[in-house]
Amino acid sequence: MAKPMGTIQLAPNVFWVGVKHYNRRLFDGLIPLPHGTSYNAYLVKGSEKMALIDTVNPGFEQELVDKIREIADPAKIDYVIMNHAEPDHANAGRHILSIAKNAKLVTGAKGKEAAMMYFGIEPERIMVVDESTKLSLGGKTLSFVDAPWLHWPETIFTYLEEDRILFPCDFFGSHLAIAEFYADEYGNEKTLDMAKLYFAEIMMPFRKQGQTGVEKTKRLDPKVIAPSHGMIWRDPKVILDEYTKWTTEKFEKKVMIVYVSMWGSTEKMALALREALVKDGIPVNIFDIPATEIGHIAKELVDTPVVIVAAPTVLNGVHPVAAYATLLVKTLRAPTKYAAVLTSHGWSGGAVKQIQSLLEGTKIEVLGVVDVKGPPKQEQFDQILELEKKIKEKLDQL
Ligand code: FEO
Repeated sequence: MAKPMGTIQLAPNVFWVGVKHYNRRLFDGLIPLPHGTSYNAYLVKGSEKMALIDTVNPGFEQELVDKIREIADPAKIDYVIMNHAEPDHANAGRHILSIAKNAKLVTGAKGKEAAMMYFGIEPERIMVVDESTKLSLGGKTLSFVDAPWLHWPETIFTYLEEDRILFPCDFFGSHLAIAEFYADEYGNEKTLDMAKLYFAEIMMPFRKQGQTGVEKTKRLDPKVIAPSHGMIWRDPKVILDEYTKWTTEKFEKKVMIVYVSMWGSTEKMALALREALVKDGIPVNIFDIPATEIGHIAKELVDTPVVIVAAPTVLNGVHPVAAYATLLVKTLRAPTKYAAVLTSHGWSGGAVKQIQSLLEGTKIEVLGVVDVKGPPKQEQFDQILELEKKIKEKLDQL
């Protein structure tokens, strides 16, 4: 069969029928999308039945239907597989079910609850599957993998056994809307960079569940991993090796400094610490928080063991953008092991107390605090050199 317009064929009778959202710039009101994103849906045609794996974001229902129509009659879809209930993949399920009157929505037990709650799908139209289920389409067999908390509680993966293609929805994804479909076409290194950003923003809080997801994937030994955002992996080892590192907290011996400065005091302290670390051969990534997209900070958190927050006191608390960056460390459950605070104040302090309170509940060990009234003086620069020694010791022990 010739390749239909706008779709690609991953294997005989297995088609990408998704949507590329080139000009989307924000996800969840939080995550920057410098290259847009895609909602990858896949159509699998067996000799007897046809399944659609995941759907698309609200607003793209017609584009999905048009893509399917290039290959088959959408009314003849038998199964709409819902790997994950988040609306960027599941919202168009209801629309497809309204066209394919006999189709069932296929999902796990928790997915059924979510489909009823979020999309009002009638329970009689939902088929619940688990890891023992085999769904035969005729020459194409779908099986399912429980993948709770990757990244919602109801998540499952779908596996196409004969073609050895894994459809893991968000897991192994990347926010990319570009002309290419495959990671190796775009460049594995460039794709990994975006996949790491994606991992940091979406999967990092669920590293333990991620380890299980990686192990289950390795056991299946897929030939292709086809996530629901961004590039498709034709060499799964490339992304599996990185996910193995990211989920098991394999740190690089490096330091991240995030800072904000109003009149230069905390900047001087941040730069002094950077200089001392670099002199000792320790790589440092330094970010001026107001000039940095939050995703870049999140991405560095994946494999950075030491995070330094440098920020002034503002009205008895820490500068709000530093509070935001600190909260990000906590919210994303970053693997950060050590932290330190560099701060200055004019008349009353408060930054240190607030940072400590923001980090409550984490296992981060605070290696030191350098706090100065007014601009930093020799005493503070000496303290920074002491702090640098402590950081080096900890890194040497990793
Ligand atoms: Fe891409 Fe969790 O939705």
